[in-house]
Amino acid sequence: MKKLWDKGKPLNQLIEKFTTEMDRSLDLELVKWDIAGSIAHITMLEKIGLLSNSDWKALKEELIKIYNEQVLTDSFVIESGVEDVHSQVEMILTNRLGDVGKKIHSGRSRNDQVLLDTRLYLRDEIREITIILGEVFSLLIKKSNENKDVLLPGYTHLQVAMPSSFGLWFGAWAECLCDDLLLFKAAYDMTDQNPLGSAAGYGSSFPLDRTFTTELMGFNTLSYNVVNAQLGRGKTERTFAVALAGVASTCSRMMMDVCLYNSQNFQFLDLPEDFTTGSSIMPHKKNPDVFEILRGRFNKLQNLPNTINQVLNNLPSGYHRDLQVVKEELFPAISEFRESLEVLLMALDGIKVKKGLLDDPKYQLLFTVENVNTLVKNGVPFRDAYKQIGMEVENGTYQPEREINHTHEGSIGNLCNDQISLKWNKRVADLHLEKGKNAIDNLLTN
Ligand code: ARG
Repeated sequence: MKKLWDKGKPLNQLIEKFTTEMDRSLDLELVKWDIAGSIAHITMLEKIGLLSNSDWKALKEELIKIYNEQVLTDSFVIESGVEDVHSQVEMILTNRLGDVGKKIHSGRSRNDQVLLDTRLYLRDEIREITIILGEVFSLLIKKSNENKDVLLPGYTHLQVAMPSSFGLWFGAWAECLCDDLLLFKAAYDMTDQNPLGSAAGYGSSFPLDRTFTTELMGFNTLSYNVVNAQLGRGKTERTFAVALAGVASTCSRMMMDVCLYNSQNFQFLDLPEDFTTGSSIMPHKKNPDVFEILRGRFNKLQNLPNTINQVLNNLPSGYHRDLQVVKEELFPAISEFRESLEVLLMALDGIKVKKGLLDDPKYQLLFTVENVNTLVKNGVPFRDAYKQIGMEVENGTYQPEREINHTHEGSIGNLCNDQISLKWNKRVADLHLEKGKNAIDNLLTN
């Protein structure tokens, strides 16, 4: 009997495929979390007297065995005809332990199981993504420091504006990612709440100890109200997607700069040879394909919160199978995002900046504000100095003052990269990423 709800009637094959086929592969992301959640649940059932100590031991041993033998070895399969990960785990337990296996589902529903699994999964994804982002951040800071004296034209309206530097440019993306972490904090806090015990969405008449499972899984708090816990399905995913979209926006804009700066009309940087590709017709081409695909992917990702929102829109409270569709959008997006970050890391590392860019006469107007400021320092009121230099530009007598002396915080001469790194470290520490991980590791090993 492969359906938990089997009533002995035959099923239509197409309907069967339509309702469950995606889940059979997508749910593989959730196996670890389903097992950990089940261990927490049975430990609580034993505590409140709904499971004997020996049943609890047998179930826990078997769950850990499934984890070690099938999850860690990537060999867990959701068999054909089985609907989802929750059914598969319960079926394995029942096959191996008989009636004991059937006891595990007291006081819960697949609705709170999938809620729980998703939250545990996303909580851990935030932890892992933060680690990769930390590598991107450190690389950007390193490159900023290495290139702090390499000047770069700064633009407003895509018009030559003021001197900038590669130190500023690389460091800017680093601090931008730092700000993106604030959205990760919101996503983390949203997901770090225990929904288990909400069951089908309306709680249970068993005296479940939800505070106990909250502690066992290292959650910061519970989603107390059972109806709200169910409302969290999709909302948690959307909030997570907003955080991804924030990073994606930073990265897509960074990739746009790279493509622009690499163009022959700018020529500010060279790309690593193996990150470019040739043209089938134009022999001279070295196209920035990797950076373009990254840009496209990061742009596409920014739609994810909206897509998820469209699935949720106008759903009444309570569980609906529509919510399963969120997985179809979110899970592949997460893998794609992580792969893109890995490639971005390699691609950024190989970028070579060009020196002496501002020596080109076409950039001499970058220095007008430096001239104005020197006059101001010598006592000329700003508006008069501005006029004087403006007139020199107009009548062709302007001589750029190439000496740049920017010293305030966050400027060319004082990048404040150490302060930015401190900010990063503090924001990562504020996420408290290890508590949840340690709790789950503990459930899966003891
Ligand atoms: N695959 C389902 C989902 O993702 C699991 C919950 C099924 N619940 C139900 N009542 N059919 O939503």
